[in-house]
Amino acid sequence: MSDILEVKDLHFYYGEIHALKGISFNVTENEVVTIIGGNGAGKTTTLRAISGLLGKIASGEIRFFGERIDGKRPHNIAGMGLAQCLEGRHVFTNLTVRENLDMGAYLRSGAEVKDSLEYVFNLFPRLLERETQKAGTLSGGEQQMLAVGRALMQKPKLLMMDEPSLGLAPIIVSSIFKTIKQIRDDGMPVLLIEQNSNAALRIVDRGYVIETGEIVLSDTAQNLLENEDVKNSYLGVN
Ligand SMILES: Nc1ncnc2c1ncn2[C@@H]1O[C@H](COP(=O)(O)OP(=O)(O)O)[C@@H](O)[C@H]1O
Ligand SMILES: [Mg+2]
Repeated sequence: MSDILEVKDLHFYYGEIHALKGISFNVTENEVVTIIGGNGAGKTTTLRAISGLLGKIASGEIRFFGERIDGKRPHNIAGMGLAQCLEGRHVFTNLTVRENLDMGAYLRSGAEVKDSLEYVFNLFPRLLERETQKAGTLSGGEQQMLAVGRALMQKPKLLMMDEPSLGLAPIIVSSIFKTIKQIRDDGMPVLLIEQNSNAALRIVDRGYVIETGEIVLSDTAQNLLENEDVKNSYLGVN
């Protein structure tokens, strides 16, 4: 399988803080990969560095379908088909559900957009029911669905999600994870970043463990779920 995303020896600093100390990982076609790790490990920094939101990286290489994207601007990277759901459900609260979804598709033409809209409403019937409602009036779980839906409206070639389960009730979390599995089964490669390691590892193919800016483990999801160190450090709490 060829690489969709390849990150090689990525270093990033916030001023003096060495936040990413040589991160390497890859995502190949038709797989869902997770990066798990505790608070402050560098998960969000990794994702934002990939999408170009942090500007220049200190060193390393980031390739999307073989092409270097480090150094490119965020909208150019998005335009290449790399979509992301940021941590904390960024939706436009004063716009309706439909307007939020339309914003996700601004780079695309009418007929394709209609298909994507149908796909998103199929995936999240709740969003169809709330189509004309202001996004700010939605529950946390519905806003997360909208954030995922908006990213899907780009019809991306890779969907990156930063802690989609953060702050949501367990029953909503399980429905969000079920949807991510559905998106994967529909053929969309996903890079899922999560602190909720237990739930994440149950729906992905492979995983990486990040600790203080370094990848310390990489294995199949099944092996990580059975790994004693992972169990002790990450699985007990969820
Ligand atoms: N804007 C920032 N300025 C300075 N330090 C930051 C900033 N954002 C994150 N950090 C630091 O970088 C490290 C990694 O943070 P982050 O990537 O947000 O971790 P995670 O998403 O895994 O919780 C942490 O030590 C955090 O305090
Ligand atoms: Mg984070």
